[in-house]
Amino acid sequence: MTPFKNICPAPILAPMNPHPPLAHRRILLIIAGSIAAYKSLDLIRRLREAGADVRCILTRGGAQFITPLSVAALSENHVYTDLFSLTDEQEMGHIRLARDCDLVLVAPASANLMARFAHGLADDLAATVLLATDKPVLLAPAMNPVMWQNQATQENLATLIRRGVKIITPESGDMACGETGAGRLPEIAEIVTRVIDFFTAHKPLTGKTALVTSGPTHEPLDPVRFLGNRSSGKQGHALAAELAKAGASVTLVSGPVSEAPPAGVSVISVETADQMLNACLTTLPADIAICAAAVADFRPEAATATKIKKNGDAALHLTLVPNPDILATLARHPQRPGLLIGFAAETNNHLENAHRKLAAKGCDWLLLNDVSGGKVFGKDTNRLTLFRQTPTGTSQTDIPPQSKIDLARHIVAAIIKEYATHDHPA
Ligand code: CTP
Repeated sequence: MTPFKNICPAPILAPMNPHPPLAHRRILLIIAGSIAAYKSLDLIRRLREAGADVRCILTRGGAQFITPLSVAALSENHVYTDLFSLTDEQEMGHIRLARDCDLVLVAPASANLMARFAHGLADDLAATVLLATDKPVLLAPAMNPVMWQNQATQENLATLIRRGVKIITPESGDMACGETGAGRLPEIAEIVTRVIDFFTAHKPLTGKTALVTSGPTHEPLDPVRFLGNRSSGKQGHALAAELAKAGASVTLVSGPVSEAPPAGVSVISVETADQMLNACLTTLPADIAICAAAVADFRPEAATATKIKKNGDAALHLTLVPNPDILATLARHPQRPGLLIGFAAETNNHLENAHRKLAAKGCDWLLLNDVSGGKVFGKDTNRLTLFRQTPTGTSQTDIPPQSKIDLARHIVAAIIKEYATHDHPA
């Protein structure tokens, strides 16, 4: 794989829409060898205008029509062009490249690439990625009309459709090669619409309700002071956003944070643990609940009506009383959420504490978070370990360090998989 680094310092496209339809969607665009490849430059622009993050693979054939540099400039990303580059493999192996996206879009898809895909060949990066991906694939074929009509191409097409590949059917008309017939790449606007439609339709959690708690709680001491913690709400908000994108109807109960409310999520803003619990209870029944909030375990016994004054050098003694445990309350509730997920913020004895918490809280999954040394609260990245209650015990999966948004994608993908294999009646 040959990388072409960003050559364009400033973003070319600044999406104007505050909620562009493809926001946070990661598209891996494979550009194959067809004369229509020149149109993929415009496609990259339009996908990015719609909010998508676009990473490209340019096949050897595609590179006969457009240059990697123009693809790099428009996508503002590496462009991958062949399979065996050690540097690139170290940066992003071909398996990760195949999976680190929400959709693989092949536009234009040549007859050759379709044939190799249909036959499971892995003789270049594009074909290898198509074989290795576990993500949905959308193909926009473009080729000479006789090649398109050829029985070999049509049989390859039928094979791919049977395997679940989605197709943007080529249009009829005058072709760049001088012939007339079916095989022309549809207008770029049409391809972008099909991509947006794909994400609208591809919502495996449609019909599910989800509750997410996020952020800290603030426990008032007097009219101007509170007890709180350093939680930013980034992880909880990212989880709510991903669940909504997967089609769930999401209520986010959030403590005071500066994170923007995620698109398509209904937000209940609270301050204290008591308020958070009450808000959560109003959302039941829920299919899925994720308690990502850093709830204060204690609150001052009574908040004073007026500001606490200092009294010379005298110490101030506060009496703190326990707050309700929201996660444990949800676990014991008659309307217990079908899939209940908690976090464990630990600074020491991580594994032991996580096992103990999973059992004590009564949740189904627990995400262990090492919060020692200030490496999680307020930061954009994290690493987690997922513990799951299974009929035979507890399973443990390490999720490598990555952005909180990517972690949220990972967790929601695990939830989708869980629902595909098990019932979790609310
Ligand atoms: N939690 C909750 N209500 C509380 C305290 C915690 O819902 N009053 C939830 C958190 O949202 C998280 C899980 O319980 O999902 C574990 O929180 P954590 O802070 O790790 O543990 P605590 O229960 O507070 O226990 P400790 O402070 O002793 O580690």
